[in-house]
Amino acid sequence: MAIFEVAGRRFVIEGKRVAHVVTIGANGKLIHTYFGAKLPYRDDYEALPSPIVAHSSFESPDGVATYDFVPFGEMLYTEPTLKSEREDGQRIHQFQFERSEQTETKLTLWLFDPLQEMRVGVQYEVFADYDIIGRSIVVENTGRLPVRLTAAQSFAMGRWHQPNLKLHHFAGMWTGEFKKQITPVTPGRQTIESRRGVTSHQANPWFALEQDATEDRGEVIYGHFAYSGNWAIHVEQDAFGFVQLSGGMNPFDFSWKLSHQQQLTTPTFYIGYANGFADMSAHAHAFQRNVIMPRATERPVLYNSWEATYFDVTESGQRELVDLAAGIGCELFVVDDGWFGERNSDQAGLGDWHVNREKFPNGLEPLISYVKQQGLQFGLWVEPEMVNPDSDLYRSHPDWIYHARDAVRTTSRNQYVLNLGLPEVEQFILEMMDDLLTRHAIDYIKWDMNRAFSEPGVPKDQTDRQQELWKRHVDALYRIFDELRRLHPTVDFEACAGGGGRIDLGILSRTEQVWTSDNTDPLDRLQIQHDFSYAYNAKMMSCWVTDGPNWLNGRNVPLATRFVSSMQGTLGIGGNLSEWSTDELAEAKGWIETYQAIRPTVQRGIQYRLSAFTQQTPSVMQYTSEEETVLLAIAPLRQYGAHQYHFKLKRLDPAMRYQVEDRTLSGAYLMQQGLTFSYTTDYEARCLRIQPVHRALSLLESKETIV
Ligand code: DGJ
Repeated sequence: MAIFEVAGRRFVIEGKRVAHVVTIGANGKLIHTYFGAKLPYRDDYEALPSPIVAHSSFESPDGVATYDFVPFGEMLYTEPTLKSEREDGQRIHQFQFERSEQTETKLTLWLFDPLQEMRVGVQYEVFADYDIIGRSIVVENTGRLPVRLTAAQSFAMGRWHQPNLKLHHFAGMWTGEFKKQITPVTPGRQTIESRRGVTSHQANPWFALEQDATEDRGEVIYGHFAYSGNWAIHVEQDAFGFVQLSGGMNPFDFSWKLSHQQQLTTPTFYIGYANGFADMSAHAHAFQRNVIMPRATERPVLYNSWEATYFDVTESGQRELVDLAAGIGCELFVVDDGWFGERNSDQAGLGDWHVNREKFPNGLEPLISYVKQQGLQFGLWVEPEMVNPDSDLYRSHPDWIYHARDAVRTTSRNQYVLNLGLPEVEQFILEMMDDLLTRHAIDYIKWDMNRAFSEPGVPKDQTDRQQELWKRHVDALYRIFDELRRLHPTVDFEACAGGGGRIDLGILSRTEQVWTSDNTDPLDRLQIQHDFSYAYNAKMMSCWVTDGPNWLNGRNVPLATRFVSSMQGTLGIGGNLSEWSTDELAEAKGWIETYQAIRPTVQRGIQYRLSAFTQQTPSVMQYTSEEETVLLAIAPLRQYGAHQYHFKLKRLDPAMRYQVEDRTLSGAYLMQQGLTFSYTTDYEARCLRIQPVHRALSLLESKETIV
């Protein structure tokens, strides 16, 4: 790993296996020169060709190239990394390279634009073990006149001479998040984005780009944006085959004013390089667990009472569930929506964060003590960014929501979004949460966010600051989280937004886990969880076992199938245990014990997708740690009498002998011959643990290493 300069004004940023090369062009532009496998010699980097094509007088050579920073105003027409207007109407940039600054892991290339008197630092931070480079820009207004930024992206880079590139990204909806899409990159522009104020169910700030990659091999470039507001990723291909990539905060309806000497640093976009999709997710998962997420500890098995009681929460009802949850081995008990204000349905009470005394006559304390006496941690649901019109909070502060003069105030799920950009609202939420956590022994907060923005306006703001609200919201949210974590360092947080509407590395750096989807049907979840695993790790992914038939689609599958599906991540129970039979409770206890035994491997091991679930194909996930390999498998629909499926394991030690039930088989056997599972009923589930026994020393070391 190193950052160094070679001849030709070229900067090289190396990870363990990746190198990123940027050249300072004659005109001061940052020309993207290379992103790929590390090259052995400095000469190799010096020999890299210039990507600039001189074609005709109808194209500026500058326009046929790719950049690490795309300025606006010259003959470059791809998405600008930065675009701004000065108060006097100057809106053209002419950036010149000033200097570089570097430490062992960071490089900043400083540019200066004399036209608008702005200085920009294009920043790179390398996380060598994971072959990931963090990209952001810092912008400073060095002039006297204010400037208004209208685009401030976090990264730009390119690909060239790579035909048949494919873009992988997520599309979805509420209860159907994280459906991975693969689209060919063709001349023109593709943008994936959110304009909803929140990360969104519909798309997610992650992408992968590859030519011919499989799970096991092939160059993959991928990226995660660490931000929970409006975001965009652009892929633009020209007719010469150059592909310009860029991304960051969505320039749509964005603006940010910088007065003299004020700065803005964009959120970080993490760009990774991998060999095959398995390698990509292994690196991304390890990076998230070790660098992004706040704690390295394993996640407890939780019980959440939402699907059991919905808004009908009472102290006695919750106590009954506590007994049952404790009896089957749950470790954390979470009271969901409905414990506060007049919250008897989703039509009222949001914003009135005082305990409902009809439901909890003596407050929450007796229930919390009871939960703790049973040896469980206690968790509570909140949705602090929202308010119902039917609430005391809204009646006292109707101006605290995003709205516009004389415009209709659109409700969604009967609620409005609070304007966190108002200092009094930020203060209200911080104080309310601090008070809740100070007065009660709460171990865990599930922080929900159940609607997208509408009427994005702040009537009392100046007109040229209205479009700042998108970023102000996220900034305030992050400040609140950061302050709460500082004041209450032992409390864990779960990010939820009607399921998976706010999952990104920005929120993940402040939360221990996320609620993947409100869809708790085990079969739908297999597909969501499979695709989710390309981008996100198993530990962060909260998965509940709920009642059959499922509330969403009426489907009823065996309890074992529900468990094995939910054991693919952090296991939780969300069913109405008071309606489970004694046999079902006993079975659940057994599955929770199994999960607790495999938990270190599922939550911290390397995950391999061996087979994706469809009606014709099984779901088979492999998790491998130093101690063991775990297989979680669910058979497909049993069609035409089929009763077996077959799969091959990945990345075991070929020379190692493994205990597989009553047989001892080598890693080579398991990877080359594989295993066959029999099944007698639809969706039959299995959890198989495979432990290494001993190694045949006569065989050559051939184990591949991976983070
Ligand atoms: C949406 C969440 O995704 C659910 O889990 C639940 O917390 C409800 N909100 C409560 O209103």
